[in-house]
Amino acid sequence: MKRSEVNEIMRAADDFIRSFGFRLPPFAYWSPDEMRRRRLEIAGIPDARLGWDITDYALGRFATKGLFLFTLRNGSEADLRAGGGMCYAEKIMISRQDQVSPMHRHVVKAEDIINRGGATLALKLYNSDAEGQIDLSTDVTFATDGVRRTQGPGEVLRLAPGESVTLLPGNWHAFWGEGGDVLIGEVSTVNNDLTDNIFAEPLGRFSDIEEDEPPLHLLVSDYPKWLAT
Ligand SMILES: [Fe+2]
Repeated sequence: MKRSEVNEIMRAADDFIRSFGFRLPPFAYWSPDEMRRRRLEIAGIPDARLGWDITDYALGRFATKGLFLFTLRNGSEADLRAGGGMCYAEKIMISRQDQVSPMHRHVVKAEDIINRGGATLALKLYNSDAEGQIDLSTDVTFATDGVRRTQGPGEVLRLAPGESVTLLPGNWHAFWGEGGDVLIGEVSTVNNDLTDNIFAEPLGRFSDIEEDEPPLHLLVSDYPKWLAT
């Protein structure tokens, strides 16, 4: 993706998020220079990989395969292993109409995917088989806001604003906005996007960026290069 496209998506996402009365934290609006200048004081941000995350899954077709994410908080994998402390994470995301987040599962992360407002959030769901591959034959049982539900393999679950689904490790899922753009919440166990996304097809978790203008704000994937000491 071009940096100019990333900047434009940031502006549009901020407008969309604000239209629901939701606000991003202060560090969302810091410039790359400010982050670099304060990098010792703010090390908790890159360490937890908090912030802007715009991906086209390295496919170059953001409108049809992509996702806007902002990681608001993210705990510690050591705490999660120890069974106490900051074991949680939260993201706000936007799936545009018919913009697919491709089929994937997590090894560690359990997540509630929440329709926070806008259009319908559609999710296609499968179980894992014994090898961890997509199980095309078994029914999928899951909870939506505490209500147990079962549907056939690959059937589409539709969530209206206010509704959510709990996805456990091993639940294969792909999702998109249906009939319009959707503001999505994610409340989960600690999140590691470097290691904990298994995709059904070969693709990348982050975008390759072509620098055609300066970044408005850094992406999480920019931190290693831009905030290097
Ligand atoms: Fe997921």
